[in-house]
Amino acid sequence: MSDRRLSLHGLWSNRFVFVLAATGSTVGLGNIWKFPYTAGQNGGAAFVLVYLACILIVGIPLMSAEIFLGRTSRRSPPTAFAEIAESQGKSRHWMFIGLIGVLTGCLIMAFYSVIAGITMGYMMRAAAGTFNSLDPKGISEVWQEFVSDPEKLLGWFTLFLAITLLIIAAGVKEGLERCLKWLMPVMGVLLFVMLAYAFTHGDFDRAINFMFKPNFDAINSTVWLEALGHAFFTLSLGMGAILMYGAYLPGQSSIYRLSFAVVFFDTLVAIVAGLAVFSITFEYGLDPVSGPGLVFQSLPIAFAQMTAGHALGFLFFLLLTVAALTSAVSLLEPAVAYIVERWYLGRAAAAAVVGAGVWGVGLFALLSFNVLKDFHPVEWLPIFQGKNIFDILTYSTASVLLPIGGILTALFAGWIVKWAVVCEEFNRSSVGINLLWRIMVKFVTPAAIVLVGLKTLNLLPEDLF
Ligand code: PHE
Repeated sequence: MSDRRLSLHGLWSNRFVFVLAATGSTVGLGNIWKFPYTAGQNGGAAFVLVYLACILIVGIPLMSAEIFLGRTSRRSPPTAFAEIAESQGKSRHWMFIGLIGVLTGCLIMAFYSVIAGITMGYMMRAAAGTFNSLDPKGISEVWQEFVSDPEKLLGWFTLFLAITLLIIAAGVKEGLERCLKWLMPVMGVLLFVMLAYAFTHGDFDRAINFMFKPNFDAINSTVWLEALGHAFFTLSLGMGAILMYGAYLPGQSSIYRLSFAVVFFDTLVAIVAGLAVFSITFEYGLDPVSGPGLVFQSLPIAFAQMTAGHALGFLFFLLLTVAALTSAVSLLEPAVAYIVERWYLGRAAAAAVVGAGVWGVGLFALLSFNVLKDFHPVEWLPIFQGKNIFDILTYSTASVLLPIGGILTALFAGWIVKWAVVCEEFNRSSVGINLLWRIMVKFVTPAAIVLVGLKTLNLLPEDLF
């Protein structure tokens, strides 16, 4: 189907650019900011182990499904689901899966750009030497002072959102591809610098132990849910980002191989980032379970104490900013592409519309750090109890909407799309592997997600897993 269809938005130059772009999407705040503290809070190596299982059972099959659906339709997620369903003799209403995805992407972007904005602010502070010789109390005051100032947060948040939209508005080749070709090597070098530093100056052995020596008793249902939610988030699955990038993939390369490559790079970066963060954390006697503030409140303590800490601090937050930017473009590209397809707007106009919406929601996310800190709007729903708007946004997207989008995508690829279409699109792979993939997306992947969900809601017997 794909070769007969033209993309309305352009194509990547070749399949390596696809891997670059998809890796850029998957490697982000999730790897460097979220992975270390989530692993830290959930038993370190125990979490890593469960997470690897989630990648195999859910990550790789779903990533292949998204690339497949994208490449075969060459459209944004809602149009892709509508047109594929129609071509299989089913209702166009299946587009709702894509619509949920587009919405989820915008909601994620609303809180993602707040954190990315804080990262840019910290990059400047590190460069200016703000953390030099501050004690831990002084550093947490810097954090407090920063996040309690809505105007400062708003400035950085708006700047990050604007940069993202400018790249998207410039187009797939001229904007996304051109920037990724610059940003990804920069990210690779920065990561390497971090690892080299951690290896030579940090407590590398303890970091290795913490991440790779599992304590099996620590594995419980929370660890499973956190690991599954994290797998979705870090692999950019369940909202159509990978589907969208798949729509720009030229040629007939093997989809499984591409999925493996992207999953491999993402996991590698998470592990390298984890080792770097924990080596520094242990070396300076910081607490690995300190939560979301880990990279903002703990690491600067270390940067304050080391020689040339301001340079390393600057590089670290630059790394985080670059990683966030290459993910952010993939969060909004589906929404922009959809508006272009649906209402025939130009990319710049579509980007402006999406930007306005995200900015409005992001405002509330940002106020949750100060003015609306203790505002808990959805107290009547148990899962949102005690959560402010920022917490609700992160929880409802990563732990609810992405897994639901994932189940629906898997079921669609397994049950709606006919076997003949699978064989045609996956023609580079053997029938056996295609069959295995089909069984995964038909039964195993959706069942695994549902099981973890039921377990979390306490609807399964205690000793099941
Ligand atoms: N994968 C990105 C990260 O780890 C976040 C993301 C989620 C990007 C969903 C796109 C879609 O930071």
